[in-house]
Amino acid sequence: MGLKDRIDGTALRLVPGHAEGEVVSEASSIHRLKRKLLEEVDLAEIVKLSPSQRRARLENVVAGLLSREGPVLTSQARTALIRQIVDESLGLGVLEPLLADKSVTEIMVNGPDDVWVERNGQIRRVDARFAGEAELLQTIDRIVSAVNRRVDESSPMVDARLPTGERVNVIIPPLALKGASLTIRRFPRAFTFAQLVDGGTIDRVSADLLKAMVRARLSIVVSGGTGSGKTTLLNALSGFIGESERVVTIEDSAELQLQQPHVVGLEARPANVEGKGQVTIRDLVRNSLRMRPDRIVVGEVRGAETLDMLQAMNTGHDGSLTTVHANSPDDAITRLQTLASMSDVSVPFEALRDQINSAVDVIVQIERNPGGARRIREIAGVASRRRDTFRLQTIMAYDRPLDGQPSDDTNFVHFPLPETILHRMAAEEQVVPPAFRPGQADVAAAPEREAE
Ligand SMILES: Nc1ncnc2c1ncn2[C@@H]1O[C@H](COP(=O)(O)OP(=O)(O)O)[C@@H](O)[C@H]1O
Ligand SMILES: [Mg+2]
Repeated sequence: MGLKDRIDGTALRLVPGHAEGEVVSEASSIHRLKRKLLEEVDLAEIVKLSPSQRRARLENVVAGLLSREGPVLTSQARTALIRQIVDESLGLGVLEPLLADKSVTEIMVNGPDDVWVERNGQIRRVDARFAGEAELLQTIDRIVSAVNRRVDESSPMVDARLPTGERVNVIIPPLALKGASLTIRRFPRAFTFAQLVDGGTIDRVSADLLKAMVRARLSIVVSGGTGSGKTTLLNALSGFIGESERVVTIEDSAELQLQQPHVVGLEARPANVEGKGQVTIRDLVRNSLRMRPDRIVVGEVRGAETLDMLQAMNTGHDGSLTTVHANSPDDAITRLQTLASMSDVSVPFEALRDQINSAVDVIVQIERNPGGARRIREIAGVASRRRDTFRLQTIMAYDRPLDGQPSDDTNFVHFPLPETILHRMAAEEQVVPPAFRPGQADVAAAPEREAE
């Protein structure tokens, strides 16, 4: 049963102290029965059951409790009460209204009375609170058991994707110092480039350029911080890949939503409780080479898979796309080298530079400003060749407006495209928007800079 199904199944919620008259006594007896239920069932045993078996088992226990100590009820009322108690026990308590709220993109629980949410890129504390650590742990148990995972002292960290798409991370004491911590990330909404332009993330001509670059099979790396919008941008860029191309996407946790007809989505898998069965991004990148892809889209490179990705880009899978966590294009390109060097295949550091210089054509830097807006800060071309020190050439840069001044397109400054990129685009018959042609750009010549 998915998270949403369970929420939907919990239509009636009685909050002790908030109801009136007769309902109060009913509410408190429900509360008591729920507590008894949790005392009687063995969570470790419940976790092993299928969702329907789980429900049947809980209904049995509640029926037993009711016959022993419950009020005398008609059989209809009794059935309804059993259902309600089980629903509430399977539900997610204080998290439900937050999960039901579509504007909430992330829920962060740092302890029973420390709950934060992200809305429109803004992180705010909310006054939702769990009754105590025990209730928080029970809620966490319910969430992770829905995906057949377990969290306890022997496996105090769990990262999982729910059937409904949410990504859940749990870490409990003693690793988490303040108490059990839970992070739920909603399946991200897909943005088209038109929406990114409307939202001020990029200007229209630069979006046209990126489209032409993807079509011309340039290999592009999106760089940015956590939550800056890398995956969202990668998804929008992937939308420019032609319908006839075979695309393999590779992710830690599936977030991409490509619309083309010929897409194979692959998702890595963490080790199970016994430490077995792990399939890494790297395994998937290697496997994808045997799948005849025209393009490989890797959600994010974080380690050894970087080398495999670079090798793929250099052996006929140009036009591949990925993201990396970095603060600037300069930072991104040197980081790719560091990540590639984490591979067990030992490649001399200079040789890695060679691989990066020939594999990567363009780096797009995205950032999230303090107000929550996302902006493409820079598009940079890789100008260095062979084993040269990395050199980057600005193609587009966002000129930060003065404080409080609203931004508009004039804040995006266009530079002439580097020769090599102009040639690649011409060879692929892609039209370069005039703003990026020599002699027509905002700035006469693009300055080159060394990154290191
Ligand atoms: N350009 C954008 N405008 C508005 N919201 C965005 C934009 N890009 C991303 N977001 C939102 O920000 C959150 C994080 O985006 P995501 O692409 O997953 O970031 P990252 O991959 O860098 O961690 C998501 O909720 C997403 O919908
Ligand atoms: Mg991401």
